Amino acid sequence: MIVVPGPASAELGKQIALQLSAKVLPVEFKRFPDGESYIRFDGSVEKEDVIIVQTTGPPQNENLVQLLLMADNAKDMKARNITVVVPYFAYSRQDSRFRPGEALSIKTIVTLLKTCGVSRIVSVNTHNPTVLKTLPVPVEDLSAIGLLAQYFKKQGFKNAFSLSMGKKGLATAAEASKVLEGKYDYVPTQRDRITGNVTIGKKQLPIKDKDVIIFDDIISSGGTMMKAVAWVKEQEAKRVYAACVHPLLLEGVHEKILKSGAEGVVGTDTVSSKVSVVSVAPLIVQALKK
Ligand code: R5P
Repeated sequence: MIVVPGPASAELGKQIALQLSAKVLPVEFKRFPDGESYIRFDGSVEKEDVIIVQTTGPPQNENLVQLLLMADNAKDMKARNITVVVPYFAYSRQDSRFRPGEALSIKTIVTLLKTCGVSRIVSVNTHNPTVLKTLPVPVEDLSAIGLLAQYFKKQGFKNAFSLSMGKKGLATAAEASKVLEGKYDYVPTQRDRITGNVTIGKKQLPIKDKDVIIFDDIISSGGTMMKAVAWVKEQEAKRVYAACVHPLLLEGVHEKILKSGAEGVVGTDTVSSKVSVVSVAPLIVQALKK
């Protein structure tokens, strides 16, 4: 077995290889002056089971192209089979035609990966695992919510109140509360399909003077999380923390969430950021060993 840590997941890829006791294949990478990507494997993958680790957080399109180049290269270099670990799967929020005429982005990307010889795809907290299982290569979805909750528990947040973003995400809050041994509920969010604007409905929660942790899969522009934090603060919670699996955290968003009233923001290393303090390597290794 050979692990190929892609340029976007160099550290996580090495961690996974270490924990699997697998060989690491170095990847030479450069960006041409016009922005195109160059990839070269520094060694053979012939007749090997190859695991490519490459996240597709920003810059999504470049990271996706690198992933496709690596997979197709492994195929051309006669790998026995190719697994891709895509810790954050770009475009997975566009998993449906919400409005007539929209491109079904995630299907296009998975179809391309299949064409490049990929037979297995492993990801973490994809937006809608049910849809992703029906794609040309079914996407295996792992959950890092337990790892995030364990992080908070170790920091002394036993019995904290867990909140998910939206009713549909209630299972996320339930998963966290199993670890934290506190109550759980959801923030009643609603997203406008055209503007993308999020509004929060009316709901009273028993969180006065309690520590609250809001769990979401992604923090990108931070708009959803900032509104949720402010809403929880209005309900007189003691301390509020923002937790997410994929801290895409666009420019200045971390600071804005703190300003909206959160004591801290915690994320995993599915994408690297200054809040990526929880590693998903053990979760991925456990899945790959199966
Ligand atoms: C939405 O469906 C997701 O679960 C996240 O709440 C959303 O993607 C966060 O995006 P932003 O940080 O841009 O509000």
